[in-house]
Amino acid sequence: MSRYILAIDHGTTSTRAILFDHSGAKVSSGQLETTQILPRPGWVEQDPREIWQNTQKVIALAIDGSQATIGEIAAVGITNQRETTMLWDRKTGEPVYNTLVWQDTRTQDIIDAVAGADGPSRFLITTGLPLSTYFSASKIVWLLDNVEGVRARAEAGELYFGTPDTWLLWNLTGGLDGGIHVTDVTNASRTLLMNLETLAWDDDLLVAFNIPRSLLPEIRSSSEVYGTCVGTLQGVPVAGILGDQQAATFGQVAFDEGQAKNTYGTGNFLIFNTGTDIVHSKNGLITTVAYKVGKEPARYALEGSIAVTGSLIQWLRDNLGIISSASEAEQLARTVEDNGGAYFVPAFSGLFAPYWRPDARGAIVGLTRFVTRAHIARAALESTAFQTRDVLDAINADTGIPLTELRVDGGMTANELLMQVQADILGVPVVRPQITETTALGAAFAAGLAVNFWHSRNQIRKIWLEDRRWTPEIDDDERARRMRIWKKAVSKSFDWVD
Ligand code: G3P
Repeated sequence: MSRYILAIDHGTTSTRAILFDHSGAKVSSGQLETTQILPRPGWVEQDPREIWQNTQKVIALAIDGSQATIGEIAAVGITNQRETTMLWDRKTGEPVYNTLVWQDTRTQDIIDAVAGADGPSRFLITTGLPLSTYFSASKIVWLLDNVEGVRARAEAGELYFGTPDTWLLWNLTGGLDGGIHVTDVTNASRTLLMNLETLAWDDDLLVAFNIPRSLLPEIRSSSEVYGTCVGTLQGVPVAGILGDQQAATFGQVAFDEGQAKNTYGTGNFLIFNTGTDIVHSKNGLITTVAYKVGKEPARYALEGSIAVTGSLIQWLRDNLGIISSASEAEQLARTVEDNGGAYFVPAFSGLFAPYWRPDARGAIVGLTRFVTRAHIARAALESTAFQTRDVLDAINADTGIPLTELRVDGGMTANELLMQVQADILGVPVVRPQITETTALGAAFAAGLAVNFWHSRNQIRKIWLEDRRWTPEIDDDERARRMRIWKKAVSKSFDWVD
């Protein structure tokens, strides 16, 4: 009997497997951290073999921690950190190099060369994306041109490209022994190589980047049976794939035009569903695919990606040592009434939406002798709220429909001080659902719909229940004053790269 869906949630910092039941409740889970390999400033890598090994281990942990038998698992859904790029040999299964993680900025020269006189917006209409090191294309080019022999092997058709979803699917469905080479539209929409309208790889883009087509996986919908697992999950279909931010949108049941969610992870990702319309932003947002269920038309979204939010708290812990755990950030920030005049712009990888300034670097401004580590912790938390407000302003300007409340999820939503500050800075309520595992749940929903574990999106909508709501506690003047100073602080972070 079909009792469970297994979601594999491979994020930037860890991989998790979660078993969900029909009510959307988490039955059991397993989690392992991913080793972050940081060889030089701006370079961020991971080991693809570790990613696959960890995935196998967390699947075993989730199954062992439950009463489930393999036969009771109706389907597997995959969700993943997007854009992160790897190449592997289709005959040996050996990766040619580590993954280049989405945060990696080593490819700025490649981006500048492709942008040429047209600048970063050269492919904005076709792909919905500005030319940026963030997306996969320049990372593929770097691997082709900097790892010995790789371009020749790619041109001989010996290699596969994949984002982590594709790597995991290939391995789950047999790897060398018949693994399938497929991605979904949401992940493909983050490569800078897919045409948003046709949902196919675009020849002009492949030529511009000089990427051989044979590297690329087949693009499929986000909810359909792609293939069947071998090994531990023998016989279980893999039936859902969504990039993690799109999965969180699906898990927040933001299926319809006008609905939005904000996920607080390593970075923040605000997604606003624009339905079947492809809306091009005039205010620095990305246009992306929200999801595509089977043969239905794709749904699109505007997205504001913020590179550094949760990872700033890790930085306070690991690099500055002013807190010993992430949860201590809230306690420390609560010991002071406000930021003491300090503002923190965490532009560690430049600034993403809505600024797109690769030349920006982190700045802490407004310092006086009065400022303590508690004020710095508070300024760090506030930076997440301010950056989110910048993105929401851009969404409101692009769509002309002011958002009336924001659904939130992700690790940092446990930080109640941040949630209150967020409502204060936005001026609209912030709402947290009861099930906060929205990313994994979204992948489970996509897989479950494909195999009739859940019959419709209407049925799934009933699973979403509100847990807590924060309403603004400061007035408009105070909100405007804080935003004014924040904007001034942001301007100080520009122009730091020679
Ligand atoms: O675009 C990058 C995003 O998919 C990574 O999300 O939650 O793994 O930091 P996360």
